[in-house]
Amino acid sequence: MNIDYNETIPNNVDLADDRRLLRALERWQPAYLKWWEELGPVESGNLDIYLRTAISVERDGWANYGHVRMPEYRWGIFLAPPEANREIGFGMHKGEPVWQSVPGEYRSELRRLIVTQGDTEPASVEQQRHLGKTCPSLYDLRNLFQVNVEEGRHLWAMVYLLHAHFGRDGREEADLMLLRHAGDPDRPRILEAFNEKTDDWLSFFMFTYFQDRDGKFQLASLAESGFDPLSRTCRFMLTEEAHHMFVGETGISRIIERSCALMREHDTDDLSSVGGIGLPIMQRFMNFHFSICLDLFGQEKSTNAANYFTMGLKGRFQESRIDDDHKLDGALYSVPAVENGRIVSHEIAAITASNERLREDFTLDSQRGVNRFNKIVAEHRIDFEFTLPHAAFNRGIGAFAAINASPAGEIIDDAQWNRRHGEWLPTDADKEYVNSLMTPVIEPGRMASWIAPPRRGIHGQPLDYDYVRFH
Ligand SMILES: [Fe+2]
Ligand SMILES: [Fe+2]
Repeated sequence: MNIDYNETIPNNVDLADDRRLLRALERWQPAYLKWWEELGPVESGNLDIYLRTAISVERDGWANYGHVRMPEYRWGIFLAPPEANREIGFGMHKGEPVWQSVPGEYRSELRRLIVTQGDTEPASVEQQRHLGKTCPSLYDLRNLFQVNVEEGRHLWAMVYLLHAHFGRDGREEADLMLLRHAGDPDRPRILEAFNEKTDDWLSFFMFTYFQDRDGKFQLASLAESGFDPLSRTCRFMLTEEAHHMFVGETGISRIIERSCALMREHDTDDLSSVGGIGLPIMQRFMNFHFSICLDLFGQEKSTNAANYFTMGLKGRFQESRIDDDHKLDGALYSVPAVENGRIVSHEIAAITASNERLREDFTLDSQRGVNRFNKIVAEHRIDFEFTLPHAAFNRGIGAFAAINASPAGEIIDDAQWNRRHGEWLPTDADKEYVNSLMTPVIEPGRMASWIAPPRRGIHGQPLDYDYVRFH
């Protein structure tokens, strides 16, 4: 089914047949556009950007590429096609047909899941809004805006569910999505990692590598949901999320590539005189982003998580591929804990441990890319290895929140932490240096000094294509 872009809100959910819902969303739309103008990408109103837009939700051919004037981008509502006779795959309702409307008894839990996910989407747009001014190339500028418009669309996806299925409180929650702001001391975004600054491109690539990967794991477990509209919208969002992580992984890889080349060319580890980003600085940024993302998964042991699973609202990552009863009757899972100054592990009811399990899935997935980063370093015959810090490092939530630990997972006291955290987390000097490199490069095909060109352009276009046109 192709999407009709002549409608005010392009969609594949038959909005035209539901006048009340359509009117409600049409009332929300101007507030969204105003938010985009005020808190979306700065100074983007005059740009024509080579963007992909969803034109169908079928497996291939969903995306159309072309130059779009930024404010004229059309955000729409797209759900993956329904799966015939889909059944709930886990929890106490396993084997029952999926729900097309919200079961009354699970209403508040479902609303909370949707609001928490939805809140991260506009948050990331706000966090990234200044990056366009310092893009390392037109190719990267285009990718930034592609990510931004899709995060805006993800907000639309969640707002649609709130409007369509939660009545008045859903509409109120939709309004609140535009009133909380990343880093706002009075009305911050719900999750802490989405209040942090993302004001340089190294942070942006780390963000799209780690925070967007958190998004992948959250969306994948919501895609298992017994509430079918949530499942379908998450399945479509995952196709977009994959591109965000591609931007992150290739961005980090290109910086490593360039740094290694500069190290060899100038025979030095100190890249500050040659306009590159040293690998230890990158490691510190990685430590920061990875550790704050671990917090996004919540407490190791969680009754909320247990309820979401039992109720059939949020499954495990790739639930159907797991070989067990999908009810977790009597099953155990080990989670970390701190006892007498030592890290130990405890077996708890698996049903209460699904946050921990998802965090471990995320860690494994993150590690795969880090292995690829290390391959680049090794190809340059440079003696350096990126590592993900231990789960105990720099944590604000869960078993490790009360202690300090080194990236190697060794518990240390406050004095040692204060003395050494500058070795492990980005220092003011790191941030200042990275920021000093952030000068815009907007000549087609040219790259900033600190990043290698990408392997290929977007959608078969050459590297020196004018991915963004200025007026
Ligand atoms: Fe998203
Ligand atoms: Fe994303």
